[in-house]
Amino acid sequence: MSHDYDRLDLAALHERPMMKWQQYEKDVLPLWVADMDFPIAEGVRAALRAYADGDLHGYPLWSGMPGLREALAERLLERFGWKVEPDWIWIIPGTVAALFGAVKAFTSQGDGVLATTPIYPPFRYAAVRQGRAFQEVDLVEREGGFRVDPSALDEAITASSRLLTLCHPHNPTGRVLDRAELEGLAERVLEHRLFVASDELHSDLNFGTPHIPFASLSPEVSARTITFLGPTKTFNLAGLKIGFAIAENPEVLERFKEAMFGFAMPAPAVSQAGALGAYRDSDGWYQDTMAYLRANRDHVKTRIDAMEGVSMYAPEATYLAWLDFRGGPLAEETGAKLVELGRVGLNEGTTFGASGAGFARLNFATSRAIVDEALDRIERALQKA
Ligand SMILES: Cc1ncc(COP(=O)(O)O)c(C=O)c1O
Repeated sequence: MSHDYDRLDLAALHERPMMKWQQYEKDVLPLWVADMDFPIAEGVRAALRAYADGDLHGYPLWSGMPGLREALAERLLERFGWKVEPDWIWIIPGTVAALFGAVKAFTSQGDGVLATTPIYPPFRYAAVRQGRAFQEVDLVEREGGFRVDPSALDEAITASSRLLTLCHPHNPTGRVLDRAELEGLAERVLEHRLFVASDELHSDLNFGTPHIPFASLSPEVSARTITFLGPTKTFNLAGLKIGFAIAENPEVLERFKEAMFGFAMPAPAVSQAGALGAYRDSDGWYQDTMAYLRANRDHVKTRIDAMEGVSMYAPEATYLAWLDFRGGPLAEETGAKLVELGRVGLNEGTTFGASGAGFARLNFATSRAIVDEALDRIERALQKA
């Protein structure tokens, strides 16, 4: 049965004045940055319209739009069994800003910030651009995916390590970390008295593997953790620049708020209105979009499995496929060669760290036909190389 998303107009997408569609020359098909090409939920659109029609365009309350934190708390309980009080929640102007804020809050110049690499590039920037040492712990490839080896943390941790930055689900690999991985990390966190900034922005884009919030592991872990998440990836609202910081420990939340002081806190009221529309009135859109993404994921996997010179593990969450070109003719300068030979624009693996060499990240949140066109181009690039 056909779906509205099947009818996305490629020519119109190319005209969009947005980062995703203007990064490359016009004949390159750009499936890189993590925006979806789908129209947003009607529930969000209606909430934004209602906001525009009202008169609440002044400074919002520090605690945000009435009902917003409660709607998030309800969602977290329902989806992850994670009991969060509205008071633990602070409304942030996006997760990248919050990662920078966490580094500022919980570390000093020269301190170490740990992360499981390859990783979404702003994790590195948040540390390095603020004069901290970025301490990489490479994922290991085993049991059908890229996994955290908590014992590798033992080697990476130094006397200067203060903060573990976690990306869970993991971008770019699409892994949902399991309880054993999370508990292994938690053990080290408690032993070394680290703080944790857990970016769980992709946690709603889950294809069925249970998501365990890091902070939910135990009260001791919760006391050292600040979690970031929000509706922008799930509901395709990255331009609204909104998210949530959650910390049970008031001292942790206070330190974070202090570090963010002056930087668009809380997020703009219009974005809060959109977020409320997403959480309250958009479940039909969400379920439908997840089903479409799952079918795209399975399709990408089937087609990649049939190609020579590239492979992948099916992501457990996210609409991102981490394509492994290491064994084939595109093993070096992978992203550039895909553009040159295939006219397809993916994220170059090394932008996620040295261990991303030989990989490229493909965003499959678009129509099946566009996904197929991208896969045809990848195949042609492999044949030409
Ligand atoms: C893991 C992760 N964190 C943060 C972001 C960006 O967050 P924001 O737009 O809220 O700054 C992204 C965007 O793709 C992401 O994948």
